[in-house]
Amino acid sequence: MHILITGGAGFIGSHVVRLLVQKYPQYHIFNLDALTYAGNLHNLSDIADAPNYTFLKGDITDEAFLATIFEKHQLEAVIHLAAESHVDRSILNPLEFVKTNVLGTVTLLNVAKQAWKGKVFDTAQTRKGLFYHVSTDEVYGSLEHEGFFTEQTPYSPQSPYSASKAASDHFVRAYHNTYHLPIVLSNCSNNYGQNQFPEKLIPLFIQNIRQNKPLPVYGKGENVRDWLYVIDHARAIDTVFHEGVIGETYNIGGFNEWKNLDLVRLLCQIMDKKLGRQAGESEKLITYVTDRAGHDLRYAIDSSKIKEKLGWEPSLQFEEGLEITVEWYLQNQTWLDEVTSGDYQKFYELQYAGR
Ligand SMILES: NC(=O)c1ccc[n+]([C@@H]2O[C@H](COP(=O)([O-])OP(=O)(O)OC[C@H]3O[C@@H](n4cnc5c(N)ncnc54)[C@H](O)[C@@H]3O)[C@@H](O)[C@H]2O)c1
Repeated sequence: MHILITGGAGFIGSHVVRLLVQKYPQYHIFNLDALTYAGNLHNLSDIADAPNYTFLKGDITDEAFLATIFEKHQLEAVIHLAAESHVDRSILNPLEFVKTNVLGTVTLLNVAKQAWKGKVFDTAQTRKGLFYHVSTDEVYGSLEHEGFFTEQTPYSPQSPYSASKAASDHFVRAYHNTYHLPIVLSNCSNNYGQNQFPEKLIPLFIQNIRQNKPLPVYGKGENVRDWLYVIDHARAIDTVFHEGVIGETYNIGGFNEWKNLDLVRLLCQIMDKKLGRQAGESEKLITYVTDRAGHDLRYAIDSSKIKEKLGWEPSLQFEEGLEITVEWYLQNQTWLDEVTSGDYQKFYELQYAGR
């Protein structure tokens, strides 16, 4: 089977590409990525020469390009991860998010629908003809201190990022309902792990602690997120792609809620040990900064459906996963130096200067 994975040079996508390339030699994986500031081919240097892997540089909003690659490579299934993914950037430039996340997804849906028209795929059995859309729990909005997001929770996106992802989810379901395109969706909680671009909380703070720079915590650090190790998310995507019921949605999460401030303190403790600092030293770097506009209070995913129906569950405890993650960033300074140059630096200055 020829599978197109979009956004495969990014954080989660690179783990999904690696997993499928290594686990399924019978598949050919085509990784389509525009290589924006968030995409980095070094994430996949270990599998770049695998015989069942091809990288294609291109943009999901480019319909002619997509039609050409579907035809040329006879693409038979899609796992769609390409997106603009950082909430802070969406607040600065919402249109960029509409363009990639909404227009890009609809363009990809159109091209897949067109390319597979008239083909007889037994999708439920073979997964050929399947469009798998990878989404986020942020589409559900914000929770108070109680309760969980289930697959039935009504959408209530609160940031330009989550609004654009919600719109893309609706389009994917609309293509199933209107054109009978076989689809599956999953909505996952916050991911952490190796290869995450260092504008996101965990890698940014590891960098800052190491360099003795301030740790800018939004508001009072009260916001709660549910954290999942990225390789567990990649395993869940593999499971949903192969076993998910056509037309259905699966929530993916770790039942692992952390207040931002508690998470930062845990990170400081791990870093103190790793860097041979006195206990409590790194915590002194915590500084409280003006809260993010429209900051959602709490996300918490009920992932019992994927556990009960498809048998997936996280493999790592958070403390264990965080240790592995910290160790990886400490061992991969070259990767960090490389991705924190160029455009990203300019954005960084704009956002964080003076904090
Ligand atoms: N990171 C998380 O915690 C999280 C949680 C749940 C869901 N998700 C979803 O998973 C997906 C991947 O997230 P991530 O954190 O790996 O993001 P990321 O920003 O690290 O990677 C996104 C990738 O998409 C590529 N891309 C962006 N615009 C493109 C375009 N127009 N055409 C082709 N490629 C383009 C980028 O170059 C990059 O490689 C996204 O759809 C995101 O909404 C992320």
